[in-house]
Amino acid sequence: MLKVAVIGCGNISGSHISNWLKMANVTLVALCDLERDRAEKWLRQAPKLHIYTDYAEMMDQEKPDILDICLPTYLHVQYAEDAMRRGTHVLCEKPVGLTEDEAKSVYRTARETGRCFMVAQVLRFWNEYIYLKDAIESGRFGALHYGRMYRNGGYPKTSWHGWMMKNELSRMVLLDRHIHDLDFLVYVMGKPDHYDVFRRVKGVEDILNVVYRYGEAFINAESTWYLQAGVPFTAGYFFAFDKASLSYDGKKLTVYPDEGEPFCPVEHNDPYGEEIRYFAECVETGRPVTMVTEESLLNVMNVVDAIDSEETIG
Ligand SMILES: NC(=O)c1ccc[n+]([C@@H]2O[C@H](COP(=O)([O-])OP(=O)(O)OC[C@H]3O[C@@H](n4cnc5c(N)ncnc54)[C@H](O)[C@@H]3O)[C@@H](O)[C@H]2O)c1
Repeated sequence: MLKVAVIGCGNISGSHISNWLKMANVTLVALCDLERDRAEKWLRQAPKLHIYTDYAEMMDQEKPDILDICLPTYLHVQYAEDAMRRGTHVLCEKPVGLTEDEAKSVYRTARETGRCFMVAQVLRFWNEYIYLKDAIESGRFGALHYGRMYRNGGYPKTSWHGWMMKNELSRMVLLDRHIHDLDFLVYVMGKPDHYDVFRRVKGVEDILNVVYRYGEAFINAESTWYLQAGVPFTAGYFFAFDKASLSYDGKKLTVYPDEGEPFCPVEHNDPYGEEIRYFAECVETGRPVTMVTEESLLNVMNVVDAIDSEETIG
């Protein structure tokens, strides 16, 4: 039975903790957060959990097989490397880190320590995106012409002490939202041939629109933090091929074929559960982590740097 601990019990952690609690072949033994009440609220559901506010104390006491990192981005690499040096396998929320150098460093540590390390790039486990990947790779609907991906909403006002809104700690919308879609594109189609960047950053507003070119096709990826924090988050895509268009509104995927009725080809899954199960299986069986690789993440970080070096409006 694998022992798991989670560090960082903020916004995204609920999707991880609830899934660890459902799994039969692992035991979630401990949670750690500087703000004790954020971790303690899980005791209602799982009274046997051990709660910590100090990372080192948790690692010394619990000696988990897996550490699941849901900390702010600027802490990912430092905690992942420390945990691997202690002999623990690490699942880490996206993004891998703040820079390409950090990404290289954390993978070097994984190699040196022989530990499994995976970044939770959740779209790779998301049924509607898996279907899109297959449509692009198989050519089932003919050639791809155009894509639109979006990830929009108000700025993340509730992040812990506002860390998300400090560029040096988060790289803002680029690593908060845009990286999901960019990572998917690089995962499926490799590095884009060309990209045009349109970005406006002013205070906590961050509006990013990148047009990626892949041969004859172009893909418009829009990621935003609007000034009004209450604007609901929406994410989805529209992809146009020779023989069909695929439209995903974040709830349901619809395929519009040239001939015949529109249809929904896949049921929505719990992709956070999938990524966690996949990682635990890799640890348990010793299989290499092939769903999210260093090479692909380095390509992503490379494009991230290029986008970030472009001039912004505002
Ligand atoms: N996959 C996704 O869809 C998705 C969605 C949101 C966030 N994320 C990623 O998850 C990470 C966390 O984001 P969030 O929105 O949950 O952040 P958050 O600000 O809501 O939560 C961060 C938590 O970490 C705790 N913390 C900070 N420093 C700590 C330390 N040294 N020891 C213990 N606890 C500490 C804080 O108290 C807080 O509870 C980010 O890297 C973000 O990019 C991924």
